Amino acid sequence: MAIILGLESSCDETAAAIVRSDRTILSHALAGQEDHHRAFGGVVPEIAARAHAELMTPLVETALADAGMTLDDVDAIAATAGPGLIGGVMVGLVTAKALAMASGKPLIAVNHLEGHALSPRLVDADLAFPYLLLLVSGGHCQLLRVNNVGDYNRLATTIDDAVGEAFDKTAKILGLGFPGGPAVERAAALGNAKNVPLPRPLKGADEPHFSFAGLKSAVLRAHETGQYKVEDIAASFQQAVIDCLYDRIRYTLDRIDAPAALVVAGGVAANVPIRNMLEQLAASRGMRFVAPPLWLCTDNGVMIAWAGAERFAMGLIDGLDFVARPRWPLDPNAAPARGAGVKA
Ligand code: KG4
Ligand code: ZN
Repeated sequence: MAIILGLESSCDETAAAIVRSDRTILSHALAGQEDHHRAFGGVVPEIAARAHAELMTPLVETALADAGMTLDDVDAIAATAGPGLIGGVMVGLVTAKALAMASGKPLIAVNHLEGHALSPRLVDADLAFPYLLLLVSGGHCQLLRVNNVGDYNRLATTIDDAVGEAFDKTAKILGLGFPGGPAVERAAALGNAKNVPLPRPLKGADEPHFSFAGLKSAVLRAHETGQYKVEDIAASFQQAVIDCLYDRIRYTLDRIDAPAALVVAGGVAANVPIRNMLEQLAASRGMRFVAPPLWLCTDNGVMIAWAGAERFAMGLIDGLDFVARPRWPLDPNAAPARGAGVKA
């Protein structure tokens, strides 16, 4: 059984965790940076990188202490090596390289998106490859066929904004604060989703992709009329997102030989109404629905340690010369989507 230390620092969460290959989480240390970024209404990359640099080493010490271990007990050190805000990614990756060098243990460079993509397998031992994955985070909205560790087919992506980005921008427009996703979900629970007419971008389109930029602009226009309650705009926005996701996933499901499970991962997977819609959609197609628990949806070290464990089991280790990657698509062979240049 392998024991993996995993580090995460690609956005505004600094985290270190220790996971065993039998799916036991031995420790889980995490420090959010919301207070550093709140005044700016979004994550400031340079501030994030500095905070990661201050927080990472103490979090590694905490993770080891909580597990009652030293580096000697660990079999490999995994770290997010991209994609993400490059200053932060470098902090985690360089820390992992230093630990690997000092201890003589192997380094595993983890794609942050693979961390999200494999996290459902940590909590569900029965989730076998292949599965259909909706990956929805602050930077991505993709539908992927997960064939194996390191083997993905991207079936659809966003042609403009990511879903989490649309939630964050909507929260900013509505003055709901930061981070935006949970704030919009809370406000939406108090509103009426039928009260504000909003578009459903690309609904019914004869292509598989997603689009959310027009929705965010429509939220801004609706808010500027002064006619609507913030809660009603939030509820109508969230419903529009749900309708778009449903329509776009259905488009793909109608055209592929669907795998046995529909899986959701990434920060937006913490949204309960979105999970409920996906669960119903899966049931209507005879598919099993798998979602990580809420705490595992947003960025954390456990998912990086687990992805490290999956890679380690396949003999996939990396050299200390591995370079941090600001961009790192899970499916490098996917054809660019219309409007791309955007989130790969
Ligand atoms: O995966 P994640 O923690 O970081 C990235 O890798 O991007 O995802 C963060 C994103 C943010 O845009 C945040 O607003 C969104 O996930 N999010 C949510 C919820 N919780 C987090 N969006 C909608 N509803 C939520 N409850
Ligand atoms: Zn993430």
